[in-house]
Amino acid sequence: MCDYCDCRELAPIGELSAEHERITRLASELRDALGSADEPRATAALAALAGALGPHLAKEERGLLADLAARDGFDWYVAELLADHERARSGILATRSAGPAERDLLLVELDDLAHHIETEEYDLFPASRLILDDAAWSAVAAAHRSAPPGAAIAPEHAR
Ligand SMILES: [Fe+2]
Ligand SMILES: [Fe+2]
Repeated sequence: MCDYCDCRELAPIGELSAEHERITRLASELRDALGSADEPRATAALAALAGALGPHLAKEERGLLADLAARDGFDWYVAELLADHERARSGILATRSAGPAERDLLLVELDDLAHHIETEEYDLFPASRLILDDAAWSAVAAAHRSAPPGAAIAPEHAR
């Protein structure tokens, strides 16, 4: 995770970054279970990952990404990150089992998720530190507190 600047000292970024660490650990457990072809363990790991990832995506969308989307010149950047979120929703979050039929696709989706987290850690967070002022960070923190505790999966995404 990003240690090049002090962006993690900002509470909302520190919170999102701690969630990234947990998500990355759960993703690694899923990858291990998929590699050992242990379907019950992989399915449990998938559920644990989804349980952490869903609320995290919602929190970013209500907080930091909503702030940036409202600023001039960032719409394309936010759109790319939101497209990643939608892919996670229609992939990892919509998958209920992790057997041989799901294995290859889940591995690709885990790679995509790792790339997304890298982009946020090394690009989004350091840049946001320079762009948002104290009032904006307070608003992001309030948005985090109002984020839903669970992730609702739209029926059309279920697979
Ligand atoms: Fe994200
Ligand atoms: Fe994130």
